[in-house]
Amino acid sequence: MSFEEVKSKINELSEQLHHYNYMYYVKSESLVSDYEFDMLLKELEALEAQFPELVDINSPSKRVGGAVVKNFETVAHRFPMLSLSNSYSKEEIVEWEERIKKTIEQDIEYVCELKYDGVAIGIRYVNGVFHSAVTRGDGNQGELVSSNVKTINSVPLKLKDTVSDDFEIRGEIFLPLQEFERLNEERAAADLALYANPRNTASGTLKLQDSGLVSKRNLDCYLYGMYEERSSYHSHYDAVIAAGNMGFKVPLPEERKIEKVQDVAGILSFIDYWDEARKQLPFEIDGIVIKVNAYTQQEELGYTAKSPRWAIAYKFKAERVETKIESVSYQVGRTGAVTPVANLRPVYLGGTTVKRASLHNAEQIEKLDLHENDLVYVEKGGEIIPKIVGVNVSKRTTPARRVVFISSCPACSKGLTKAEGEAQHYCTHAAICPPQVKGKIEHFISRKAMDIDGLGAETIDTLVEEGLIKDIGDLYALRFEQLIDLERMAEKSVNNLLQGIEASKQRPFEKVLFGMGIRYVGETVSKKLAKAFKRIDNILEASYESLVETDEIGEKIAESIRLFLDDEQNIVLIDKLRDAGLCFEREEQVLSSSILEGQTIVISGTFARVSRAEMKKLIEENGGKNASSISKKTNLLVSGENMGPSKLKKATDLNIEIVNEEEFLKRIQYD
Ligand code: IVH
Repeated sequence: MSFEEVKSKINELSEQLHHYNYMYYVKSESLVSDYEFDMLLKELEALEAQFPELVDINSPSKRVGGAVVKNFETVAHRFPMLSLSNSYSKEEIVEWEERIKKTIEQDIEYVCELKYDGVAIGIRYVNGVFHSAVTRGDGNQGELVSSNVKTINSVPLKLKDTVSDDFEIRGEIFLPLQEFERLNEERAAADLALYANPRNTASGTLKLQDSGLVSKRNLDCYLYGMYEERSSYHSHYDAVIAAGNMGFKVPLPEERKIEKVQDVAGILSFIDYWDEARKQLPFEIDGIVIKVNAYTQQEELGYTAKSPRWAIAYKFKAERVETKIESVSYQVGRTGAVTPVANLRPVYLGGTTVKRASLHNAEQIEKLDLHENDLVYVEKGGEIIPKIVGVNVSKRTTPARRVVFISSCPACSKGLTKAEGEAQHYCTHAAICPPQVKGKIEHFISRKAMDIDGLGAETIDTLVEEGLIKDIGDLYALRFEQLIDLERMAEKSVNNLLQGIEASKQRPFEKVLFGMGIRYVGETVSKKLAKAFKRIDNILEASYESLVETDEIGEKIAESIRLFLDDEQNIVLIDKLRDAGLCFEREEQVLSSSILEGQTIVISGTFARVSRAEMKKLIEENGGKNASSISKKTNLLVSGENMGPSKLKKATDLNIEIVNEEEFLKRIQYD
């Protein structure tokens, strides 16, 4: 094939695949078998592999993911992403409609829609092709998650038709119930903790760094709003229908997922219909959204600081079921906190089967006046974990015994303590209590702390149970001969593990501090401590007062740090880690120059000669400060390839100096 022929073949295959994909994922119509589809995709991939210069970033082959992003870039929204004001009763809807009528003294049409329970996304299309996708974030700026959103099959990469050459469309990404259940079945089989609900799983999935993993989760997306500098439509409804014609998955009037109504009676009938019909939907909704249809009327009504006055959400009442408490068990966390958990007769609630519910603490058990075998009401609202909201006392079997909070640790049998004014009971025998020992090690090796590869919860269990480790310090004394005899440990995994442990010695002081698991000392506090005190010896000597004087460290944290360091066992542990070669002082940065001193710099896009991470490092090494978004405080914007247009616009608006990579590198005398 000649180059031209390959080019046109790639085009033809892409068009075909885009179309089959659209028909299947948006229109639910299968035009070809999975096999035929895969064959065409393989053909396209083969040609693309041979001719990388012909690969379009929006090729159907990009859906399978692959791009791995270390950190998502923060991008400012061109139109703020607001939220909706919520209402929980029909009276509130009636009142809202009356308020609307008072402002708009003409006929008003409303659009009723489903309130999808997922995560909001804004997707921008430029010249009819996918450009970028940004999460809601704080409403003003969100994270750029394009490569993950591209894996969603119902999100078009190329539009069938478009009236605007640059627009944003917003919608909700969600995890279909079937996918959620499939995922949890897989996790149960692997003895992993189950995901709590589809919404949080969708949100977590969207933030995965590996888009290949995202593509396997089969997220879906309904679009519900068009955003343009100047609208191409007169009403919200027309815009949604037009979006459908462009190839987006939008709610269909024939399925009653969107409906135009003329009055409050129409709104209420839509609510009643879906309060029942939602149980049959293959995804979760948590309410109904009502919007004033005409854009001119929307403008007239305007916005409050947080939400539009022209729209309101009606939230369904949390579903509530009754079930029996079969027993109460107690879990011990890594900090020693003891949490009571109710084991329930399994009950179906809002799309999932509930078997357990947290009872939080002794006070909660008392408040509920919980008795053994009680029938309890379980609710699942927006919360992650189902909640026990009450007891059906009329069904209590007499004589029933009260549930009494345990007095000794369920894991190590030692006594529990509860501090004045605190609700939680603790087991303070951290050194011997197995879940605490294991939990502390798990925390230490976790990605945000020491990031030790090749070591998972199961291996830790084995190592602790075999007596090979008792604390995090023992990890550094592990030897090949000890590990190779363990079950499920092949030579390769042993080497991986030992390498992971060795590599962790390079982790900076702040990560070591965080990894030690001092109560209330999270990532940020660890950084502040490392920065302020520079070395562990200084922290060891620091008084409570000097700790409190440190940025971000309050009385509670200072007390907890002192308590930890005043414990002789922890000093022994620190010495053990120090002897193993861990980093207990902050590496002072050697500045190459102070050319950028006092300057706050934002980088955007990708660079040809250095990576983004290197660019940031260069900025710091030359005395500058990195910032992720442009504000009045920004002094300089370093622009790279594919720089975000919103950054450019903001920088120009604020009159901020913009330099390209070459100019910048010259300025810092980088060669
Ligand atoms: S319209 C100005 N329509 O609910 C508000 N939002 O609190 C524009 N949501 O974060 C939102 N379904 O993610 C709109 N049919 C729908 C929706 C919907 C779900 C979410 C959205 C937003 C939240 C509002």
